[in-house]
Amino acid sequence: PFVVTENCIRCKYTDCVEVCPVDCFHEGPNFLVIDPVECIDCTLCEPECPAKAIFPEDDVPAGQEHFVALNAELSAQWPVITTRKEPLAEAAEWDGKPDKLQYLQR
Ligand code: SF4
Ligand code: F3S
Repeated sequence: PFVVTENCIRCKYTDCVEVCPVDCFHEGPNFLVIDPVECIDCTLCEPECPAKAIFPEDDVPAGQEHFVALNAELSAQWPVITTRKEPLAEAAEWDGKPDKLQYLQR
């Protein structure tokens, strides 16, 4: 499956959700995750993310491997999102900032 990684946190652009044919994005307060059971590896979402936060599970950036388990865990708890919405107000400011995991809201 594909995985949403750290740079989505505090950005949440949501362009990704519109293209997913199987509605596997789930939304939290300041982050989205992909349900690894539902994802069919179609690759459509990956180029849509302005923050370049989406990767195939086998190609997650070094040091972000824990996001694989986090997507599985949180997708079981958060509701599905299928419609794009406005990014978070501070999205442009936070895009590319390091160490954003500490700001993840559950
Ligand atoms: Fe959805 Fe395809 Fe992205 Fe998987 S790879 S989350 S199925 S758009
Ligand atoms: Fe997050 Fe990128 Fe989607 S910032 S909400 S993974 S478009």
